[in-house]
Amino acid sequence: MAAVKMKYEIVGQCGRAKSAHMETVHGVIETPVFMNVGTVAAIKGGVSTDDLRLIGTQVELSNTYHLHVRTGDKVIKELGGLHRLMNWDKPILTDSGGFQVYSLAKTGRKIREEGVEFRSHIDGRKIFMGPEESMEIQSNLASTIAMAFDECPPALADRQYIEPSVERTTRWLLRCKNRIEELNDEESTINKNQLLFGINQGGILSDVRINHAKQIAELDLPGYAVGGLAVGESHEDMYRILEDVVPFLPKEKPTYLMGVGTPENMVMAVDRGIDFFDCVFPSRNGRHGHVYHASGKLNLWNLAYEKDFRPIEEGCDCPACKGIRLEDGSYTGGYSRAYIRHLLKAKEMLGMRLCVLHNLSYYNRLMREMRFAIREGRWEAWKTDALYKLKIQNS
Ligand code: GUN
Ligand code: ZN
Repeated sequence: MAAVKMKYEIVGQCGRAKSAHMETVHGVIETPVFMNVGTVAAIKGGVSTDDLRLIGTQVELSNTYHLHVRTGDKVIKELGGLHRLMNWDKPILTDSGGFQVYSLAKTGRKIREEGVEFRSHIDGRKIFMGPEESMEIQSNLASTIAMAFDECPPALADRQYIEPSVERTTRWLLRCKNRIEELNDEESTINKNQLLFGINQGGILSDVRINHAKQIAELDLPGYAVGGLAVGESHEDMYRILEDVVPFLPKEKPTYLMGVGTPENMVMAVDRGIDFFDCVFPSRNGRHGHVYHASGKLNLWNLAYEKDFRPIEEGCDCPACKGIRLEDGSYTGGYSRAYIRHLLKAKEMLGMRLCVLHNLSYYNRLMREMRFAIREGRWEAWKTDALYKLKIQNS
């Protein structure tokens, strides 16, 4: 790992909340950051990478498992990697497939020391994926950041299940590290600076989490994630685990809370030292016509919006609310709730697309506000105000 190019510099700190400036071979990431999810190398809802540029996305996230089964990582490598395929030159993080194997390919799945055997959710064919395979696929995809191949134990798993599972995840992490180092040295590798993030597991057992964090911290990886959360445990348990475990992950390295979450979850996690997030909520909610708003989520299917000519959110600078900027500096004006509701009812793609664009903009903007608040030393006040407003919204 010593050779990979990466810089991570903390530029703001308030309690445990941190804001960092990170440099990768694909450019800068300012944290806290929300990664926009494009599982199959596509942001659901018909959002293009040009759209991502417009709404201030810093990192795109795709999935090893999905791209392996369709269209195939070998083909993607021949095409020049994910960046070239998607026309996206900023950072990309790929998840390892570990989580998706557990959540999608449930039938006939066998977990062994070597890896996991499972059936493709597309055509049912047998696939084997272990740490080495996952690293090879991610190397072919040539993402900026590769995630370790881990096991995410079920939410209700007990200590008897979790302890051996976490030990195996640690052994898998060593194998990931060895394999990615070899791959980064290979002549044909597209991104020879691919960064490996380790993943902490342990369910809601603080002692297991802490032991595991100490072990993986010793590997001196470029970054660390907390996995296995937001899988059905309470928010209180999630916050407790973050409070307990983050202090045992290297502070001078990026920390990533996988698959989280609501705006409130992210504020609470940033307060506990997390700086990377990803979640399907903004895109999934958008596809259902549910849009984020300062006074709570709006359901644009409601009759109340039939003749509502206001944008989704007054003052929002997203392409749905404000439109796009023309050469003379003016904006095209955006679209009304009434029009978007009409599009949703008519089952026109544009309806979903506008909702997703707004929601992703909302998430990106929330992270930007957090960065400024931490960097300007007013995190505590910002957090108190934000949590108060988010609570009112949810009640
Ligand atoms: N995405 C959400 N949670 C997890 C996890 O525990 N492991 C992996 N690999 N991906 C995730
Ligand atoms: Zn908007």
